[in-house]
Amino acid sequence: MNWNQFIKDLFKLVEPYLETRGDLLHTQVAHKYSLLLLEEEGGDKRIVEPAVILHDVGWSRLKPEKIKVAYGVRAAGETAKRLNRVHELEGAKIARALLNEKKYDPALTDRIALIIERHDSGKETDSLEEKVVKDSDRLWRFSKVGYYQEMERQSTDSEERFRFLSKHLGTWFFTETARKVADEELKKRFQESGNAKHKT
Ligand SMILES: [Fe+2]
Ligand SMILES: [Fe+2]
Repeated sequence: MNWNQFIKDLFKLVEPYLETRGDLLHTQVAHKYSLLLLEEEGGDKRIVEPAVILHDVGWSRLKPEKIKVAYGVRAAGETAKRLNRVHELEGAKIARALLNEKKYDPALTDRIALIIERHDSGKETDSLEEKVVKDSDRLWRFSKVGYYQEMERQSTDSEERFRFLSKHLGTWFFTETARKVADEELKKRFQESGNAKHKT
């Protein structure tokens, strides 16, 4: 199998599923982070890369107005939790179907589907691969493009966003590399907001 071609094909395949919530950019950035984490922390790319690319396809099963309830800084309560579970479970189903369609190794497909099934709600991780996927997903929020996109999406200001991320920095990540990257990125976001204030 030509791996690079497979990854390209997979991105094409998920694109329509990521339109609902506008998650293509999120997925591309998370995928880039996963390559860095694979390099620094190890893990099986045959599990990590497809899992990252496919992890949010489940949002395509929810209506846009429900997505707003399910997701975000202010998301709380049973409804939000339930809808978030829907995106995980439906995502795992779609991922299985797409990987089967590509005749992907069934044992690897199982591992990938399990990671997707609890990528947000799962408090524990079974494997290095799962850690790397979850960390890549969350690093997006600290990246320049992710930080500002999430701010807009959730109608928060920079201060609120910064506080939210600082609060979770110490507990969200499973790998040392991800924690370090998040810390560095957050420092940059802080400087940017300081500069912005001086300009106005
Ligand atoms: Fe997700
Ligand atoms: Fe995600």
